[in-house]
Amino acid sequence: VNNEEQAILDAYQWLVKLYHHLLRHSKDGKKALEYLYSRGFSDEAIDQFQIGYSPTSRDFIAQFLEKKGFHKQVMANAGLLTVGNDGNYFDRFQARVIFPIRNHLGKTIGFVGRTISDQEPKYLNSPESSLFKKSKLLYNFDLARSEIRKKGEVILFEGSADVIAAHQAGVTNGVASLGTSLTESHASLLRRYVDTVLLCYDGDNAGQNATYKAIQLLKKVGCTIKVAALPHNYDPDQFIQEYGSDKFRAQVIETADTEMVFLMKYLKKNFNLKLEGDRLQYVERVIGEIAQLESSIERDHYLRELAEEFNIAYDALSQELKSRMRNIK
Ligand code: UTP
Ligand code: MN
Ligand code: MN
Ligand code: MN
Ligand code: MN
Repeated sequence: VNNEEQAILDAYQWLVKLYHHLLRHSKDGKKALEYLYSRGFSDEAIDQFQIGYSPTSRDFIAQFLEKKGFHKQVMANAGLLTVGNDGNYFDRFQARVIFPIRNHLGKTIGFVGRTISDQEPKYLNSPESSLFKKSKLLYNFDLARSEIRKKGEVILFEGSADVIAAHQAGVTNGVASLGTSLTESHASLLRRYVDTVLLCYDGDNAGQNATYKAIQLLKKVGCTIKVAALPHNYDPDQFIQEYGSDKFRAQVIETADTEMVFLMKYLKKNFNLKLEGDRLQYVERVIGEIAQLESSIERDHYLRELAEEFNIAYDALSQELKSRMRNIK
């Protein structure tokens, strides 16, 4: 850590406290607090995750940082301030709920700021820097690490709100990649701690596509993959708020699909199974996936399922599988 990075760490440390204080105790922060309550965040979670509020002001933070003796240009490099056309520095985060992003050592190295009105963008992040690298960071990894190790399983969410909602629901081994898709670095980091990754992305098309991509990465590093099936267009945090913690644990987390069940559901959407040609293409596509399974018991299980569902002779599927597997090896 060089001098500039140390100053940035110090500034973040000050601002976590200040933003949290403003959320808790300022008049301006009241509507942010109400917004958080309306989304089901508890006081306990707000404190534990050090959630804050950046005030509705052009330069409240700029002045605060100046008084503390921080260099404004360094603070701008860190994404805490922005330089205007007039050369003046002003606050990057204005009128937003602030989620501090901590690294694996528990040091805050970035913020995610969510608007509480309909300001664009909905989410504003700290910019990439030598300290804040989204492709390597997982939200909540520092708090969840011991639970992840203990369970041998990590749950991947899309957003910080989902991680916190799950935490409140008693699911404390959750992390999130922040507005970026999962990277190889994320995958190999997780692989060092766990065998199993449970994907719990949003129940919309974007979430399902991201799940498919994440599966490809996680397979490469040798993870066992499970996929939570949320009702269409539900985010995890929304599900929890509407149906409660017990249902979330029982119907989403504990009954997650296997990787192959997800893939079959997912691939089905690209085919019109009323058409014979599509049906055959789908079957071939699924056999290609089955061929990649490590366990012969699993391969046999899904092959039988496929034979039954499409009324195809098991032996025919089995022969096709064998020839696919020769091609892989
Ligand atoms: P989503 O687009 O799913 O967020 O992005 P959302 O569920 O609509 O947000 P809410 O529930 O209304 O608050 C998933 C996550 O990606 C990150 C945020 O952490 C978000 O929760 N994200 C998204 C960003 O960091 N930047 C963005 O511009 C968008
Ligand atoms: Mn969205
Ligand atoms: Mn989403
Ligand atoms: Mn959401
Ligand atoms: Mn979402």
